[in-house]
Amino acid sequence: MARLAINGGIPTVPKEKLTPWPILSERDREYVNQVLNSGILAGAFAPQVKALQEEFAEYLGVRYCIAVNSGTAALHMAVAAAGIGPGDEVITSAFSFLASATAAMHQGAIPVFVDIDAKTYNMDPRKVEEKVSDRTKAIIVVHIHGLPADMDEIRAIARRHKLLIIEDAAQAAGATYKGEKVGTIGDIGAFSLNQTKNFQAGEGGLFVTDNKEFWLRADMVRMFGEQVRENERRSYVAHTLGWNYRMPELTAAVARAQLTRLEEVNENGRRNANILNKSLEKIEGIEPPFCPQDRTHTYHKYRVRLSPERMGLKIKHTLLRDKVLLALQAEGVPAVLWQTFPLPANPLFQKKQGFGKGFPWSFPGARMINYDPSEYPETIKLLNASIVIGSERYPIFAQSQDTVELWGQAIEKVFLNLDEVLETVEVPEEEAFALGEITSLR
Ligand SMILES: Cc1ncc(COP(=O)(O)O)c(C=O)c1O
Repeated sequence: MARLAINGGIPTVPKEKLTPWPILSERDREYVNQVLNSGILAGAFAPQVKALQEEFAEYLGVRYCIAVNSGTAALHMAVAAAGIGPGDEVITSAFSFLASATAAMHQGAIPVFVDIDAKTYNMDPRKVEEKVSDRTKAIIVVHIHGLPADMDEIRAIARRHKLLIIEDAAQAAGATYKGEKVGTIGDIGAFSLNQTKNFQAGEGGLFVTDNKEFWLRADMVRMFGEQVRENERRSYVAHTLGWNYRMPELTAAVARAQLTRLEEVNENGRRNANILNKSLEKIEGIEPPFCPQDRTHTYHKYRVRLSPERMGLKIKHTLLRDKVLLALQAEGVPAVLWQTFPLPANPLFQKKQGFGKGFPWSFPGARMINYDPSEYPETIKLLNASIVIGSERYPIFAQSQDTVELWGQAIEKVFLNLDEVLETVEVPEEEAFALGEITSLR
C-alpha cells in the first residue's frame, strides 16, 4: 500500500494539477480594456456599473440592483434600507461570516443568533421563533457554502411575526430554491463579489430587491445620503445618513465578464461535488455535504463531516479533524478549516467588550446577548468535526474532473491508513485554530 505523504510517501495530488481561483479569461481583459479606453473609472451612472446592475437584475429576474464595493456594504445597505435602527434586533445564523451579524450592528441593531440544522448547516427554522422578541425586525438568512436555506419555513415565520427577510447570498450566487434564485426569495438580497466567491470581481457587492422604496433608500445609503438621478445636476443635499459604497468601473467590468461564466462555474462545482460524493460513499464515518432535491448548491465550500463514533473511534472530535486535515494537506489536497467556533463567541458580540465598547448595547432597553455555548450545539459539533475540501485559492468549483478524482483517491488513502494517521500525526497545540490556508494573497 502507498505510503502516507505525511510520513515520507509521494503526495497523491501534484501541485501542478490544482487550478487557482479566480480564473480570468480574454473576456475579462476585453471588458477591462473597454474601461481603460473609455477613460471613465467611476461614477454612480458610469457605463459598466449601469450595465452590471441591469445584467445581474435580468439574470436573477429581479427589478432593482445596486452595485457596491463589498458584500458587507450590500448587507449593511439592506439593513439600513429596511429602516432598522438602534435597539432593534435582527436574527441571523450562528454559523456564518462576521458580516452577516455586523451588518445589523452598523445600524446600531443587535444581532441575535440561531443554531444550525445538523444536515444543511443553515439556520434551523425550528429554533428561530424562540429568538423572536418584540424588538425583532428582520431575519438575515444565510445560504451557507452555497446551499439555499429552508426558505418556506423561514418565510412562514417572517409572515407570522411581520419580519423582513434579508438574504445573505454572498456564497450562493446562482443557487436555486424550488426553482427561485436565492437573493430574490426574501425582501432584499445581498451578494459578495470578493475574489474567493464563485461570482467574483476581486472585491465588490450587489444589493437586489423588487421593492421600490427599499431600492430608493439603499441608493441614498450608497452615496452620502443624497438623491442622485441620472442626467440631473447633483445637489449635494443629504436626506439621510449615507456612506460611499460606490463600485469602481474596473470592478464592474470584471464582474460583467465573470457573470457570463457563472452558470458554467456552478455546474463545474456540482459535477465535481458528485464525483467526490461517490468517492466518499466508500468510507465509513465521513459525510459529504447534503443538498435536498428541491435546491441547487453552488459548492462555494465543500464541507465534509467526520464521525469518530461511526468509525468506531474514541477520540476527541477536534483531534481527529486536525490529524486528518494535516494528512490530507500532505497528500496535496487543499483542505482547510473555515470558522472554528460559532459567530456569537467572538469577543465583539459580548456586552461591553471589543473595540466599540458598549455599542450598540448602550441604547436604552437594548437586549444583552452573552455567549452561551449550550444554545449552539449543532454549530459547535459541526465545526469541531468537519473539514472543507478545497481552499479559497483552489476551490472545488475551479478544478478539473481529474483533479477532483485525485482528491478522492487522496481521501481514500488517508482513511485506509487511518490507524497510522492517528498514531503518527502530531498536531501542534497552537495550530488548532490556525489550520486554515496560509497565503500571502489574503
Ligand atoms: C456569508 C458571507 N456574508 C457576507 C460576506 C461579506 O462579503 P464581503 O467580503 O464582500 O464584504 C461574506 C464573504 O466575505 C460571506 O461569506
